[in-house]
Amino acid sequence: MVKTMEEKRHIPMSSPFITHVERDAVRQVLESPVLSIGPQLEAFEKAMRLFLNMPYAVAVNSGTSGLHLAVISAGVGENDLVITTPFSFIASSNCILYERGIPVFVDVDKKTGNIDAMAAARVLETLAKSTRFEKIRNLLPPVLRDKEKKYRLKAVLPVHAFGQPADMDPILTSAAEFNIPVIEDACEALGSTYKHKNAGCLGDMGVFAFYPNKQITTGEGGMIVTRNEELSLQFLSMRNQGRDMFNEWLQHDRLGYNYRLDEMSAALGAAQMQRIEKILASRDKVAGWYNQRLAFCERIQIPYIAPFTTRMSWFVYVVQILPPLNRDVVMNKLREHGISSRPYFTPVHLQPFYRDKFGFGPGDFPVTEQLGKNCLALPFSAVMQEDEVDYVCHCLRKIAEY
Ligand SMILES: Cc1ncc(COP(=O)(O)O)c(C=O)c1O
Repeated sequence: MVKTMEEKRHIPMSSPFITHVERDAVRQVLESPVLSIGPQLEAFEKAMRLFLNMPYAVAVNSGTSGLHLAVISAGVGENDLVITTPFSFIASSNCILYERGIPVFVDVDKKTGNIDAMAAARVLETLAKSTRFEKIRNLLPPVLRDKEKKYRLKAVLPVHAFGQPADMDPILTSAAEFNIPVIEDACEALGSTYKHKNAGCLGDMGVFAFYPNKQITTGEGGMIVTRNEELSLQFLSMRNQGRDMFNEWLQHDRLGYNYRLDEMSAALGAAQMQRIEKILASRDKVAGWYNQRLAFCERIQIPYIAPFTTRMSWFVYVVQILPPLNRDVVMNKLREHGISSRPYFTPVHLQPFYRDKFGFGPGDFPVTEQLGKNCLALPFSAVMQEDEVDYVCHCLRKIAEY
């Protein structure tokens, strides 16, 4: 039955795109004796290698686990610095803290929300070159500015926010000059391209994630990709308690973890990868419906796609709610109409734990903070219907024009 625009509906934030292909794949695993470390893991990794045209892909049980292993492989330890963005999901910074490293935040570009690449390159150069504490003091988190110590830059970790690639060239150029590993947090960007190259495949290591709101899902899961064979062997070992691939059973060569992806999840991922182009196309269509309906709404700014983004793989659809409208008021009014929406992202440096540990506060990264106040993620998925987008946009416009 067709609903009118005035009838209240329930529109969830996201829904996975699951068909009989996925259900059959998972059922077949459950009918087999192998529920972990089996053929589905290999099939999923192979599908990812082929899709991204990468020689090595190592599946893990979350994007966060993948980022953690990447940070370890970059050699990050106590008091080591990693350049990253404060406008992100918390995991891209937490993974640095797991190894007792220190995030050096660089503010973001106000149009894309991605790390300001020229500023990141300048910070990289300063940190890589400077031997004097005085020169780097102001780049450090506030609580460390009075503690003169020897800090070393160990990695740069750009995030492809909302699915859109960060402007990688300036970062890659200065990272190469100073031999600093680049870890791409591509957890939100499977399928996006930067100047016709796959996001996640531009640096030394790239990490993808497959939570149910992601482009493809495994329930929980992640994937690390690299061109470096030695790194890939380290990842294989570390995800499995530090066992060396070529050693005897229960021989542990390094500190490892249980970051294995089980066979049910891997089968789900492999099945989703068979349909990835269709899934990405559906997401693109939904983003297009939103763009059409919101492009001319004065107080709502639709997502900006940079010229170097040669393919946008939509993870979320995030608008900016412009003053005098208040984002939180809009969010509450949408809720009254049965529409879920989320502030996205909440700046990492303003999270209570980061404030306590590092002394960050309001005003430290003004662009991130502004975006943190204005940005609103609207309901979005590959299975969203045009009439649902219509309803969301109708309610949003009514709220905005009030
Ligand atoms: C930018 C970013 N980094 C890391 C992650 C962590 O992925 P996971 O939730 O699979 O651990 C996510 C997941 O939402 C993310 O969006």
